[in-house]
Amino acid sequence: MVVIGSDMMMAAVARARSTSLAPHLKPGVKMFASINSPMQCMMKEICAQCVQTHVNPETGEQTLVFSCFNQDQPLEQVNFNLLNSRLRQNSTVEKLTSQWIDRCLVQMGARAKSVTVPSEESESDYLAWG
Ligand code: FES
Repeated sequence: MVVIGSDMMMAAVARARSTSLAPHLKPGVKMFASINSPMQCMMKEICAQCVQTHVNPETGEQTLVFSCFNQDQPLEQVNFNLLNSRLRQNSTVEKLTSQWIDRCLVQMGARAKSVTVPSEESESDYLAWG
């Protein structure tokens, strides 16, 4: 079974595997999470932006995994707390990028007005950039 979705949705499926989903799964079924960790080079073990930790559920041993080299990872080993923290690192940059693209579209005339700026006050801060 391959689980694809947000980090927290996949974490919930990982927890449910041993609880509410357990009676519905055949013994020994393998489950994988399609990990959407931050990536930069995507050249397999060059920049390490995509590094995730795995925790062996039997021994507790941690290992490092390059997600761009191995995107589908064993569900029961993925450290979802780390993945969530890594994804939140990009939140500010993603919001700034969205506002910048929106601003460019408005200036080009491709969009009538900004859709990402919620108030007059923040709009004046936003327009002060350019
Ligand atoms: S994204 Fe650079 S090593 Fe994986």
